[in-house]
Amino acid sequence: MPDPHAHAHLSKTELLARKNEEALLGGGQARIDSQHKKGKLTARERVDLLMDEGSFEEIGKFVMHRAKDFGLDKEHYLGDGVVTGYGTVNGRLVYVFSQDFTVFGGSLSETHAEKIVKIMDLAMKNGAPVIGLNDSGGARIQEGVVSLGGYADIFYKNTLASGVVPQLSVIMGPCAGGAVYSPAITDFILMVEDTSYMFVTGPNVVKTVTHEEVTSEELGGASTHSTKSGVTHFSCANEVAAITHIKQLLSYMPQNCEETAPAQPYDTSSDESRPTLDRLIPDNANQPYDMREVIEGLIDTDSFLEVHQNFAENIVVGFARLAGRSIGIVGNQPAVLAGVLDINASTKAARFVRFCDAFNIPLLVLEDVPGFLPGTDQEWRGIITNGAKLLYAFCEATVPRITVITRKAYGGAYDVMNSKHIGADMNYAWPTAEIAVMGAKGAAEIIFKREIAAAEDPAAKLQEKVDEYQEKFATPYRAAHRGFVDEVILPSQTRQKLIRAFKMLENKVDVMPRKKHGNIPL
Ligand code: HXC
Repeated sequence: MPDPHAHAHLSKTELLARKNEEALLGGGQARIDSQHKKGKLTARERVDLLMDEGSFEEIGKFVMHRAKDFGLDKEHYLGDGVVTGYGTVNGRLVYVFSQDFTVFGGSLSETHAEKIVKIMDLAMKNGAPVIGLNDSGGARIQEGVVSLGGYADIFYKNTLASGVVPQLSVIMGPCAGGAVYSPAITDFILMVEDTSYMFVTGPNVVKTVTHEEVTSEELGGASTHSTKSGVTHFSCANEVAAITHIKQLLSYMPQNCEETAPAQPYDTSSDESRPTLDRLIPDNANQPYDMREVIEGLIDTDSFLEVHQNFAENIVVGFARLAGRSIGIVGNQPAVLAGVLDINASTKAARFVRFCDAFNIPLLVLEDVPGFLPGTDQEWRGIITNGAKLLYAFCEATVPRITVITRKAYGGAYDVMNSKHIGADMNYAWPTAEIAVMGAKGAAEIIFKREIAAAEDPAAKLQEKVDEYQEKFATPYRAAHRGFVDEVILPSQTRQKLIRAFKMLENKVDVMPRKKHGNIPL
């Protein structure tokens, strides 16, 4: 705690050195030790891990709070509980704030908020990502509404910055109350297993209000939010893994909405055919396969970074590289619930599509979808509104968009999954594609209902009609005759086709009608 009289005897340079030393200690060695004992790093150790060595420049190191109540006038720490500044990650500029739990539990004061807002302003003016390393007991209780105002200032900036620069949040400790809403507005959330949690109200309030007994971990730990709620996009085993992950994630993104993501060098002379893909789709249309195998077969080796891996697993989304260029992939997953679209899958994919579109990352859609999930649970919770989010997200996306129909493209889901009709640039189908209003059996049962019932052998009649429908519609050719599918291609040729088509679309310009903003069905 700085004592204004303790420095009276020091020279000017000694004073500066002393202040710098004090700032580095945050809330003091005892609290640093306690942070380490909990298996957590300090705010500065995290920044050091994140940034390229020697690149970090701190801003606002000597900022102190201005509060006077509850004895705070006698308790000051240089930096006021948050380390802010800029530096490089893999050579690219980023801005960072890292909350220091050793200072008032990382709680957010008026000045703490001002420091965060200052780097966000710089990030927006200079077009570079903002990374928040969150570890905070929430609003600084002694400051009251001034602290709440500070949070609101951050939420407002988060919203203004949304779609301008990427914003990434890592949760490395508590994150409760309204404080969760800043990360929620940012583009991606990463949580650290066992040491971080996020909730609007903690277990004690939950018990009082709903009489539920629940631990912090169950209520809002990394596993809960990465599987049940989808609030976090990534669950990381520890802090080092989280920081490694965030660096990887950044590598797929541009610095801001005016730029494109950096490309990696790529040898164009290599053989792009992938014969193993020709053996991947099972003969029986009801047999599952793993869409991740299709993805791995198409992209540059080991370049897939899956987002929301354990949430709404019936759809797979993530970043990858194709011939060195960053792309976003959305694929139905036939291995889970037959790849059906439900509420969670729709919202998961819609948000991903919007991120890619906001930041000029081309989209590849791999389609094998039997339709939307029927039933009261989905209808009563609003599959209509939620499914429409994905439809809307694709419709308004102006980045290069390519679809490959690997097998089923049934019903409304055919339209939704980046069909030609809603603006996809190139639509391919594999010979195994079935593009129809519904599966052949369901279709035959409806349209030949009377004929089947009147038949001597209804089962044989049904099979005959199923075969007829199958032959006519369970193929890619009706759609190809219409031009809804641009080309029917072999799986083994697909990588080559995609590389060429994305290259062809490199300079795509597509402008939406002038408007204030659209009204996505939220
Ligand atoms: C001021 C705080 C603080 C806070 C913790 N501290 N939270 N100081 N304001 N919000 C201080 C403690 O006094 C303590 O100081 C130090 O930080 C570490 O706290 P501990 O309790 O010893 O640590 P731990 O046992 O690890 O528990 C961490 C914790 C707990 C779970 C975060 O401190 C806690 O429940 N804090 C209150 C959380 C809260 O209710 N916040 C307000 C939420 S409402 P010393 O001096 O001993 O080191 C909110 C609204 C936001 O945030 C609204 C936005 C719209």
